[in-house]
Amino acid sequence: MDALRTRSGTLEGRASLGDPRIAMKNRRSREWFQTPEYYGFARRAWLRSEGFPADVFDGKPVIGICNSWSELNNCNLHLRDVAAAVKRGVWAAGGVPLEFPTISLGEMFMRPTTMLYRNLMAMDVEESIRANPLDAVVLLCGCDKTTPAQLMGAASADIPAIMVPGGPMLAGEWRGRRLGSGTDGKKLFDQYRTGRITEEEWCEIEGCIARTSGHCAVMGTASTMTSLAEALGMTLPGCANIPAPDSRRLAIAELSGRAVVEMIEAELKPSRIMTREAFENAITVLMALGGSTNAVVHLIAIAGRLGIRLTLDDFDRVSRQTPCIANVQPSGEFLMEDLFNAGGLPAVLHRIRDLLHGDCITVTGKTVGENIGSAQPRNDEVIRRRDRPVYPEGGIAVLSGNLAPNGAVIKQSAASQNLLQHRGRAYVFETRDQMLAQIDSDDLPVDAKTVLVMRNCGPKGAPGFPEWGHIPMPRKLLNEGVTDMVRISDARMSGTSYGTVVLHVAPESAIGGPLALVETGDEILLDVPARKLALLVSAEELDRRTQRFVPPAPHYTRGYGRLFLDHVTQADRGCDFDFLAP
Ligand code: FES
Repeated sequence: MDALRTRSGTLEGRASLGDPRIAMKNRRSREWFQTPEYYGFARRAWLRSEGFPADVFDGKPVIGICNSWSELNNCNLHLRDVAAAVKRGVWAAGGVPLEFPTISLGEMFMRPTTMLYRNLMAMDVEESIRANPLDAVVLLCGCDKTTPAQLMGAASADIPAIMVPGGPMLAGEWRGRRLGSGTDGKKLFDQYRTGRITEEEWCEIEGCIARTSGHCAVMGTASTMTSLAEALGMTLPGCANIPAPDSRRLAIAELSGRAVVEMIEAELKPSRIMTREAFENAITVLMALGGSTNAVVHLIAIAGRLGIRLTLDDFDRVSRQTPCIANVQPSGEFLMEDLFNAGGLPAVLHRIRDLLHGDCITVTGKTVGENIGSAQPRNDEVIRRRDRPVYPEGGIAVLSGNLAPNGAVIKQSAASQNLLQHRGRAYVFETRDQMLAQIDSDDLPVDAKTVLVMRNCGPKGAPGFPEWGHIPMPRKLLNEGVTDMVRISDARMSGTSYGTVVLHVAPESAIGGPLALVETGDEILLDVPARKLALLVSAEELDRRTQRFVPPAPHYTRGYGRLFLDHVTQADRGCDFDFLAP
């Protein structure tokens, strides 16, 4: 049992013999395990209580596996299997993998919204990395907020990090119709609300629309953010879009475990990978994918952790020169599984490679251009050619005007084209509760031209900036065959949603933004081609209304909620806490 009693040699001794896996630089874990004082011994002894032999400390790099697995987050339920595959790779490359949990954010369950807790998870990730004897970290994510939270935390901790998303779920199927979780659910719900789908049918749909683990199967926020992690260079090429149950998901997890060990000696930290040019690549890919509006907020927040200031103008500039080519719901027709089979993100990158900074370094140690290599789209219907795009510009447009002095966004690729230039009278809901109480009323005084306005749904007002912006269509209009109308709020919207919906109005109404001043009957102008959102009321009248504005009482006076309200920034600044910038 010598192996239990002796190490195979001192760390320094083996390194001096030229073992390439034991180069001494860049090892934070040494400070924990290789110190001569009592706690060096104690830390080794306590780690051996997990069943490791003595030679586990022979200079092997310690790799944290940051796992957002939780039974309260169905999208990430398979991440323990993914972690096991990562561990195989880490061991094979000469590292020691240690898996640890953080808070997980399950989109379907958390109230009032996961966005309230994105920054909490980011802090959890950052401090878990910083406080522990880790030389590098593998980030396992999936559901919407888990990806940006991990990237924010890893960016601030800034040790070598690689991301392994869990991948999208498989397509649902109901009576011969393929279903995309999220987007199709909302469409079918309108049919159920209006009696065109029976209770029994609705129950059947419930059982098959989300039939596997993995995140939502359309280009919602989860698919968008994991794809953007790949575009940023933080995953292995081709990793983001592999479906969750596909065996290749585990294979690439193992390869990621091998890759992260090499990243230590190469000093491939997030700050070297996520540069301004890498973020510009991510914005370009966001537009080409017709990705979620939530990505605007998240990318600004991640970049902010590295001292990079992204503005809404950056997004609009890129949007005007990037066609939306991914024909995936909600902007298009297909599902994530189809995108993967068509070549996945590498094929999308290939098709827009001249719009990208090809020389950005990635977790492979190679550049974006080198990683694209010979990737080719295999289906021109799913990944459209540039001369036949899903939408001629990027999926997202940035609006401004006296109703949104600091900006607002709209997913123009998922809106009704006849409503992109629209002038109509406002009908105002003071709160979401009021909207829910009235929206199905037969005497709601609205018609197809009305502009629905809902306020007190922003970062402080809701609180937490929930996905309430997709105001349901009034039932009386659905019954008349109207399926879309202009809707405006300071909320976010699920990336799986669609419609002519203006979001993220900043500053928000709860802090006195102009949305707080709109009255029912006011005229509103939406002009997406001109990027304009205007309240057609005189400046003098708006001044009078401003004098009368009384902010709502804060939702929290203690605890994390109080911290959030005191420090969250507005949508155009990414909604991070002001004290987390470098
Ligand atoms: Fe988790 Fe949609 S609910 S990604």
